[in-house]
Amino acid sequence: MAIMAPPKNPLVRAVVPKGPAERTIAVLDVGTSKVAVLIALVGGNGEPRVIGTGQKPCAGLKRGLVIDFERTEAAIRGAMDQAERAAGVQIEFVHASISAGNLGSDVATAEIDIAGASITAADMMKLREAGRARIDPQGRTVVHAQPALYALDGQPGVESPLGFHADRLGMDIHVVTADTPPLKNLDRAIKNAHVGLRSLVASPLAASLSALEREERELGVALIEIGAGVTTIAVHNYGMLVGVAAIPMGGDDITYDLAAEFATRRSHAERIKALDGAAIAVPKDNHEVVEIPPMNDDSTSEPVRATKAQIIGVIRHRLDMLFGEIAIKLDELGFTGPQARQLVLTGGGAELRAIADFAQGALNRNVRIGRPRGLTGLPLAQSGPAFATLAGLVLFAAAEQPDIWHMPSVQKSPGGGGKLAMMIEKLRGSM
Ligand SMILES: Nc1ncnc2c1ncn2[C@@H]1O[C@H](COP(=O)(O)OP(=O)(O)OP(=O)(O)O)[C@@H](O)[C@H]1O
Ligand SMILES: [Mg+2]
Repeated sequence: MAIMAPPKNPLVRAVVPKGPAERTIAVLDVGTSKVAVLIALVGGNGEPRVIGTGQKPCAGLKRGLVIDFERTEAAIRGAMDQAERAAGVQIEFVHASISAGNLGSDVATAEIDIAGASITAADMMKLREAGRARIDPQGRTVVHAQPALYALDGQPGVESPLGFHADRLGMDIHVVTADTPPLKNLDRAIKNAHVGLRSLVASPLAASLSALEREERELGVALIEIGAGVTTIAVHNYGMLVGVAAIPMGGDDITYDLAAEFATRRSHAERIKALDGAAIAVPKDNHEVVEIPPMNDDSTSEPVRATKAQIIGVIRHRLDMLFGEIAIKLDELGFTGPQARQLVLTGGGAELRAIADFAQGALNRNVRIGRPRGLTGLPLAQSGPAFATLAGLVLFAAAEQPDIWHMPSVQKSPGGGGKLAMMIEKLRGSM
């Protein structure tokens, strides 16, 4: 009798051996529609290597905010288990993304006297301490405080000032902040799922790292991440992040509009949006009819019949609102003029058919769809625009981005932004 091989578990695959200098990093994207986990080996020669992924739908969030701890924890735990099994490792800490909390950004400046001497590592440390003292979170939590631009005697543009002679050394710091309660709730949900939080990363910053080209970031580009519940924006110029903003609207609003308009379930509306929806109608959409199931599946209710053009009309109404808001935010972030020609769309919302063409017309700029890059072994299922944040988290963690606020300090920072900031600070300090 032939011996049958045991059924293969698709989530489990051969464990990839670690190279000599490699370390394991786990990242977690807790989104309004899904929780996704990725485990990668970083620090070797070449790109980070994906060794495990996990994903679970999640109904515990609204507009990026945790509104149901139990459901969120279950989704986190489920996605973590999948990824851990696939990678053959146990994870203690994750780097997680945040898109809730009304992300916003500001620039703080600091300057120290050098008196004509050559700039040393001690001067850089002094400048960072001076910079940290200039950050005023105004009751919010500092998510990032990245050195954006150094200036020698008032002249900006030096990438690394070490070794230069100057009388004064200045620095602009790009500070990303968020409301504290949503971060605390996310922190609690992650902890309750028995995972430690190593750092929080603003979702559009993570997505920028995986979806933008270096040259785009140097010439000027805005990344627009259209999630299920939140749309976030990150503006880059001269190779640096210069502005972050958030709009509490996303792909789910389109789904809900369709469900309301055609009196159907959200699940039906979601399918119709992906299969028959688009951002731009073509002439044949006036003739193609779609049957939309009624809210009640009993035999007394008739399905609604709508042309694709009618469906696209509903989608367009919401897109006009969303892109109107995006235009306002881009203006507020100073994304204007010749260095503001390129836009990159990421997030699941960027999967909508013809959205790049629509955005090009609505915002009068070049638009492309951004997909995650820079990782080896990313499964096909996680290589669409909805996973730019997840992949970017790995690149963020691998690069160990300098952070003025969360760096270990000789003295405790004033204000501190609360317990969560202190906790992240402590964790980052121990990295
Ligand atoms: N083919 C498609 N056409 C249109 N919309 C799509 C398509 N695929 C996914 N979406 C939409 O993308 C959204 C999910 O995107 P994403 O996974 O980036 O969100 P999230 O990370 O869960 O949420 P958030 O970041 O807002 O908290 C949903 O609204 C979904 O309907
Ligand atoms: Mg998201």
